[in-house]
Amino acid sequence: MSKAWSRQSVVEKVIGDRKAPAREASVAFAPANIALCKYWGKRNEVLNLPVTSSLSISLGALGSHCRLSPCSGSDQVTLGGETLEGEHPFVERIRDYLNLFRPDPEQSYKIEAINTVPTAAGFASSASGFAALVLALDGLHGWGLSLRELSILARLGSGSACRSLWQGLVEWHVGSATDGMDSYGEPLGDTWDELRVGLLVLEAGKKPIGSRPAMKRTVETSPGYAVWPDRVAHDLANLKAAIAAKDFERLGEAAESNALAMHATMIMAQPPVLYWKAASVTAMNDVWAARRDGVSLYFTMDAGPNIKLLFTAADEAAVVERFPALRVTAPALRPAEEA
Ligand code: PMV
Repeated sequence: MSKAWSRQSVVEKVIGDRKAPAREASVAFAPANIALCKYWGKRNEVLNLPVTSSLSISLGALGSHCRLSPCSGSDQVTLGGETLEGEHPFVERIRDYLNLFRPDPEQSYKIEAINTVPTAAGFASSASGFAALVLALDGLHGWGLSLRELSILARLGSGSACRSLWQGLVEWHVGSATDGMDSYGEPLGDTWDELRVGLLVLEAGKKPIGSRPAMKRTVETSPGYAVWPDRVAHDLANLKAAIAAKDFERLGEAAESNALAMHATMIMAQPPVLYWKAASVTAMNDVWAARRDGVSLYFTMDAGPNIKLLFTAADEAAVVERFPALRVTAPALRPAEEA
């Protein structure tokens, strides 16, 4: 039987003997990312190793800012300037993650986080949050790790965080190693400056079930999950071909249908997982109506009720006219500071 790797042993393997005294403070930013081909299901729940590869687009200036500094006593976490209680689930998750990195058990951290995307509403704030935190850890401790190595570490906090180390189009390679060393994000290299992502905030509250338990329940109970890996292989190939050819209709069709297929696997879980609200379904119908009217518009949707619209600069005015509350980003532009 192969060795069961713990998160701690993976961290030690990545950081090795790069031990340096902590600096005074470190600041970092990481963009949120939206998957065009989704990550849904783990083959290893401890290391967040996925069943399939996935492909995302980062959201430019929308993401998480993190300031990290050493402190005494227990860890302190502020989110958007507000101090969170030690028992807050978010603080517990961060503390648990930071336990992997403390140079000595007495070392505590102060984390000041600011999200520029709505928190916990399916806008991937945990992905950008863990990616920003790992960048800040690298800066604070002066490890000088590569983005690929940081991607592996970010995955240990939240799977999709491994795609948030870069702007633009990023593929998360499924990998096959038991320690996950070949499961990380990698930028595609293609840029597509005309691409636009619009965030349609329908409900900014906390979602009824997190992606982690929803994913687990789907893998364990949904008969629909059996077809998912083949769907991903098909959609991923289609998306890459669409990106290479700058064929927006092909990209939109593949992304929209991949999102709906993911939700179909959840709906077939027992008990079912349904993130859609009436407003989500209305928005989907509005997107299809726009398409019938000749606007090249597609949607994608993650573990929440909100919808993300995909379109190009050519249709931006027509899309904003139909969805006046839309928050538009031009995500494929780089580098991060310029987006
Ligand atoms: O990384 P997690 O555990 O938050 O899972 C994210 C899963 C989806 O957002 C639904 C899909 C994806 O690929 O981002």
